[in-house]
Amino acid sequence: MDTKGILDIIQHNGENQAGLIAILEEIQAEYSYLPEEALRLVAKETGRSLADVYGVATFYKAFSLKPKGRHCISVCLGTACHVRGAQKIVEEFSQELGIKPGETTSDNEVTLETVNCLGACALGPTVVADGHYFPHVSRNKVSDIVDAARNGLETLDGKTDGRVFPLQVSCPVCRQSLMDPDHHIDGHPSVTLDASFNGRKDRVHLSSLYGSRAPASGNGVPHNSVTRLHCPHCQSEIPSFSDCLECGSPMAALYIREGCTWEVCTRRGCQGHMLNLNQIDLLKNDEGK
Ligand code: FES
Repeated sequence: MDTKGILDIIQHNGENQAGLIAILEEIQAEYSYLPEEALRLVAKETGRSLADVYGVATFYKAFSLKPKGRHCISVCLGTACHVRGAQKIVEEFSQELGIKPGETTSDNEVTLETVNCLGACALGPTVVADGHYFPHVSRNKVSDIVDAARNGLETLDGKTDGRVFPLQVSCPVCRQSLMDPDHHIDGHPSVTLDASFNGRKDRVHLSSLYGSRAPASGNGVPHNSVTRLHCPHCQSEIPSFSDCLECGSPMAALYIREGCTWEVCTRRGCQGHMLNLNQIDLLKNDEGK
């Protein structure tokens, strides 16, 4: 294990709770899992008990104590996906890859997992491969998803790739458009928000392409800090109804014209985002108060 590399990761992430998650994320990105030796070093250097560090490492599904493959495929077995036949999809992936859920292929390329809900219930059965959502998955799509994951899903082209699509995003409170036609990311108008952290403020721009992993722009708020996001028109704080599946930070729920919310992680640097087709009633109820 590269002890110096891990000490560097600990040092530049600080020692608070958000820092601990960021430390574990970076170690996992380096090793594809959290080696025991690394967790011991994190506990020692941050002054936490080993039980605390293990508690965080085992609480979030994004972390693994076992080596993972280069690619990760997660099949949702939540209720909405289950009633649409998700168990059969899991079996098809198991057969295609020759492994059970929780295992990694012998070439260390692909890990198969099951999860309880990916927040896109109306699109079920839902599968996420390397952070990219595949909606309405049927058994005959399984081998294509495996091939796509093995070939690399990092490069997405919004013009030709059906897994990414542009969103029109508005403030959930005042309903004014948050689209900025003068600031493009991924070739589309970006989504503009105000971010604040410990009295520091910043104007941030996010890619409006659902499925994009492009980082948000803006430099006034430190990397890895959990920010409050505000509408630049009415200054209302964007509400949160759930936590990020990737890092556990609160998600900010933005309104989409099509009648659902787009939730984005409020931790600077985390690219966790998801469509949530259940939150719209909650927002309407809030409006009627
Ligand atoms: S139950 Fe599968 S995405 Fe919610």
